[in-house]
Amino acid sequence: MEISKYTKIDLKLLRTDTVLGFDLYLRSHRRYILYRSHRIPFNERVRQNLLGHGVKSLYILTRDESKYKSYIENNLTDILTDPQIKMDVKRQVVYQNSLSIARDLIANPTSTDTVKRSARAVENIVELHIKDKEGLKKIIYLMPQDYKIYTHSANVATYSIALAISLGIFNKKEIFELGLGAFLHDIGKSRIPREILDKPGHLTPEEFEIVKRHVYHGWHIVKGNPLVPRRSILPISWHHERLSGDGYPGGKRGDEIPIHGLITAIADAFDAMTTNRIYQKALSTFKAIQILLADEKNYDRRILFKMIKLLGPDKTTGIQQQRGEMVN
Ligand SMILES: [Fe+2]
Repeated sequence: MEISKYTKIDLKLLRTDTVLGFDLYLRSHRRYILYRSHRIPFNERVRQNLLGHGVKSLYILTRDESKYKSYIENNLTDILTDPQIKMDVKRQVVYQNSLSIARDLIANPTSTDTVKRSARAVENIVELHIKDKEGLKKIIYLMPQDYKIYTHSANVATYSIALAISLGIFNKKEIFELGLGAFLHDIGKSRIPREILDKPGHLTPEEFEIVKRHVYHGWHIVKGNPLVPRRSILPISWHHERLSGDGYPGGKRGDEIPIHGLITAIADAFDAMTTNRIYQKALSTFKAIQILLADEKNYDRRILFKMIKLLGPDKTTGIQQQRGEMVN
């Protein structure tokens, strides 16, 4: 007989007058009791009844987790505007939502549905960060330690949006366009052979040339897609350019590189350095910033200073702490 497993969920995240699509359970004396069937709408009376009995958490069957994730995704805009929900919880649901959509996007980069969901995820990241300007220093502890293309996409979007807001030079629509481009920046890697992307050790010059083509593939995947605004293509095309002209694909230098490229270049390099790679362990945020600051011919210092401010003084004065140590 199959033994059911249960996952704890936060009662506050459930929206009233919605059909949940998953059964709710209460835990009592180490037993799980079916409380509400997935077909019956969740309403305010039920919520008040639970709160009146001191219930803050409920349980779902672990096998229903994907239904729960979809439910949160579909109700995220509402969750973000709910004053009853703490900012810590909002940060977590927005970040986790961006991760699961980024995973689907890399698996299915041309699907209209995943691109639409990506745009909604990015809108929610923008909404969160506009209200939560100090939040990045806490979100970094939610980020998984190991590098994956999809975690990297969500992280680069998160950093780029926070940077764009702190620079104060973009309106909300422009921040969204930049954020979506950052979310999609490495989408072209979906067309690079896995054995090259996952190769431990150094790439041969030929292999590196193949990896570099991800910029072109990315542009090719999104160009002409009406769901991707023109300015969202800029981070995809220019995130590997460097101020010195040593980057690719265009070898552009200084002012020739759009600001979208300069921002995502820093977000990209920072995330790549502070996550465990096959060939290198994650650096501390302090060390990563130190390396980027020392490389002034390649990275824009004004943007880097904003990044230092967003990460908080403790990360830049050597109070170490590898990102990820505080996860869980
Ligand atoms: Fe890239």
